[in-house]
Amino acid sequence: MRQFIVAGNWKMNTNYAEGLKLAEDIASGSMIDNVLVVLGLPATHLMGISQLIGKSASIKIAAQNCHYEKNGAYTGEISVDMVKSVGAEYVILGHSERREYFKENDELIAKKVKSVIEGGLNAIYCCGEKLPVREAGNHIKLVAKQIKQGLFHLDASDFKKVVIAYEPVWAIGTGVTASPVQAQEMHYEIRQMIAKKYGTEVAQQTSILYGGSVKPDNAKELFMQSDVDGGLVGGASLEANGFLKIVHSFS
Ligand code: PGA
Repeated sequence: MRQFIVAGNWKMNTNYAEGLKLAEDIASGSMIDNVLVVLGLPATHLMGISQLIGKSASIKIAAQNCHYEKNGAYTGEISVDMVKSVGAEYVILGHSERREYFKENDELIAKKVKSVIEGGLNAIYCCGEKLPVREAGNHIKLVAKQIKQGLFHLDASDFKKVVIAYEPVWAIGTGVTASPVQAQEMHYEIRQMIAKKYGTEVAQQTSILYGGSVKPDNAKELFMQSDVDGGLVGGASLEANGFLKIVHSFS
């Protein structure tokens, strides 16, 4: 059975005190068996919140980015080892905001994915099309290209450390969610791509999350789809009760 995951992507929100309080409120909520909660935190919050959470089996910490080099003269960047040394186990990579505002492309993200996995962490790899691409009917082709270029350099054992987040750009922060049918269609296609490259068993084990305006009132319908294994949640992850409701959409 594959792992269900509800990951919060806090983006550039909350100061440290606010972040600690939010994490405390989330951690004090009840969790569900077989649903892993991942908190995608600003770099400044990683250590403190990791200490607060401790060695929890149901809550893990993620960074939102890192550099692919091990160390060196890269002012402002953080390395995989830095992220790991403060207790994070995941790194979100290739988010559409990184692609759009920081000009990250599949080639760069592929290097980051490799470093993260070689460094002993797990990658949450984001992919997804912009609206004109969907309107032109090229969304599956575009996502296939992102998956191939960003991930398919990995061998099968490394690929097992990848979680995929399908996030149609037109649904992020807009309040417009992909319909459960649209999400399922893409997730099914992604799983097929993985099966073709790594075999059915690996494909069946890969967690594929949906992201883009996931809210407490639409999460259940999305998560019920057979190839949707959870969500990457932005705005709605900043309020503990709502986020916990999303987690509980699996129950
Ligand atoms: P949203 O963001 O839930 O606010 O749409 C999702 C994301 O960017 O990961």
